[in-house]
Amino acid sequence: MLHLTLRQLKVFESVARLRSFSRTAEALHLSQPAVSMQVKQLEESIGLPLFEQMGKKIFLTEAGQELFHYSRAIASQLDEMEGVLARMKGLEQGQLKITVVSTANYFAPQLLASFCQRHPGITINLDVTNREILLQQLANNETDLAIMGQPPDGQDLTAESFMENPLVVIAPPAHALAGKPSIPVRQLGEETFLVREAGSGTRGAMERFFQAHKIPLRTGMVTSTNEAIKQAVQAGMGLGIVSLHTVALELETRRLVILDVESFPITRHWFVVHRKAKRLTPAGENFKAFLLQEAADITKTGMGNGGATNPSLITHHGL
Ligand code: PGA
Repeated sequence: MLHLTLRQLKVFESVARLRSFSRTAEALHLSQPAVSMQVKQLEESIGLPLFEQMGKKIFLTEAGQELFHYSRAIASQLDEMEGVLARMKGLEQGQLKITVVSTANYFAPQLLASFCQRHPGITINLDVTNREILLQQLANNETDLAIMGQPPDGQDLTAESFMENPLVVIAPPAHALAGKPSIPVRQLGEETFLVREAGSGTRGAMERFFQAHKIPLRTGMVTSTNEAIKQAVQAGMGLGIVSLHTVALELETRRLVILDVESFPITRHWFVVHRKAKRLTPAGENFKAFLLQEAADITKTGMGNGGATNPSLITHHGL
């Protein structure tokens, strides 16, 4: 009979998933020696090593892989159990795990602040990551709800759109095309674009746009953040196509301008997504309803004169 504790399994599952003792310590609010100790005790009671260290990287042994499989299933059952119990206690308590794609992080904290003010008993755990990792998290049942662009079909997900996500062409104010009205789309073929990493929703939409208009996409630097794109565009390294949500501040301070290119903005949408089979807690149901009913208004007014989807801003910058 094995003597292992749920706590050991939880720590092990996290180390195996994150492939890191230090990140597990951070995630579970433990010290690193405490994490190592839990894993060591688990290895002792099982009688087999679970991890192999090679240089800085850690790998799962065969026994580790088996245990990872079971510990994930156990973690997911425990989550579901917590959810069922939370449902019994009602809406005002419980935990909500939310994952958002990096671009949504420009408005998600504001929405969460508004939601948490109304429901102070709900603890929210917010993870910001890229589209691919987010889809993996949904597939592994590691998050309750996600905010992202349209998810791919055939993944057993429920996705509802709650707000527009206009993509605009940004340039430094001194750019030759700045202020020009109705720039023909084909002119974009002459420009260099700074682009997001493969796997980004913004990048995918941008590529589809160029393909649909049969214009060559000349790419310059590739980066995994919207911030780096904005900086590089300001520095004159090329143009960018980004979500209007990301540039409110730069437009307000005139560090960047939106080019008035025909067929822009590209209209994407933000979706609230969860697994079809997910049993959302009352907190989860309520947050989803809150997004569907109120998110668009809150982000509009809350962003004040820098308003992400504020129509006056769009006209002002020539869209
Ligand atoms: P991204 O997602 O941050 O991965 O580009 C935004 C989107 O899907 O529109």
